[in-house]
Amino acid sequence: MAHPLEELRDAALREISDARDAQALEAARVKYLGRSGSVSAWGEQMKTLGKDEKPVVGKLLNEVRNAVTAAIEERAQNFRAQKESGALANIDISLPGTPHERGALHPLTQMLDRSIDIFRRMGFALADGPDIDDEWHCFDALNTPPEHPARNEQDTFYLPDGRLLRTHTSTVQIRAMQAAPPPMRVIAPGACYRRDEVDATHSAQFHQIEGLYVDENVSVADLKGTLEFFMRELFGPDTAVQFRPHYFPFTEPSLEIYVKSKALKRGDQWIEVAGCGMVHPAVFEAVNKARGDKAYGPEKWTGFAFGLGMDRLAMILFDIPDIRLFAQNDLRFLKQFA
Ligand code: DAH
Repeated sequence: MAHPLEELRDAALREISDARDAQALEAARVKYLGRSGSVSAWGEQMKTLGKDEKPVVGKLLNEVRNAVTAAIEERAQNFRAQKESGALANIDISLPGTPHERGALHPLTQMLDRSIDIFRRMGFALADGPDIDDEWHCFDALNTPPEHPARNEQDTFYLPDGRLLRTHTSTVQIRAMQAAPPPMRVIAPGACYRRDEVDATHSAQFHQIEGLYVDENVSVADLKGTLEFFMRELFGPDTAVQFRPHYFPFTEPSLEIYVKSKALKRGDQWIEVAGCGMVHPAVFEAVNKARGDKAYGPEKWTGFAFGLGMDRLAMILFDIPDIRLFAQNDLRFLKQFA
């Protein structure tokens, strides 16, 4: 005759294999293996058995517990697998997924990144200032007198409180010198605003990289060397660079930079790309006055400054015919630079 424990095992295994779902299985587990389940009850009963019966029943009890535990685990595994395949049943895995379009950097951002990278290699640090600034930083401190045409309302966006949208990044020259004594070697990329008639080459918002280098004994040769290196890194080693005399209130002498390169679409033309010059002593004096010290004494310190038109440079490098394309967000245009 089968031992009652064997009968218990067979009953348990039957119930486990008959369990229709996970709840029924759990009920069976509690019934046979739970703290007050029947297999556990046998454990309790062991204490009452005689010396010679104990090892035999003990061994059998272990086997029964193991068999029941294994059967429950196997059945549970079945239910889990069933549940998972049920969840996947309505999904057609042969359907293509939702495509994620890969983004890319805007051509102007690419241009800025490339330019910043070149200047950083020459040891320039990044500086910045606000797009909304005051007349003093935009004009007065830059030796630009009140009667200068740039200051009139036809050319500059003024806010009702008298502040303005900066017309150039040269404001950051002043802010950088206010913030720290010389020597100074910074570039300041950023947006500028002018009330220009918008056309293929003019936009109310455009971008510049300002540069400022102040040290002892800085000369026009340093200025030329720095900007020629920059242009050749950007446009290729065969780029010709020309410096033509010009006028800016904040530099003396002042120059405009033209480039010509066979690598470019308009390779046979000189193209104006930047303004530059040696920092005017009046700019240093204005900064000293604001600082309340003589840190930028013009007898000791000299410097050069430049302003590069980023939109213009990108248009030349990528052969873009119309500045308005930069802001129209037309994917047909933007994708060409991805
Ligand atoms: N701020 C000038 C402009 O927007 C460009 C410029 C010219 C910047 C000469 C300079 C400079 O720093 O030295 O037209």
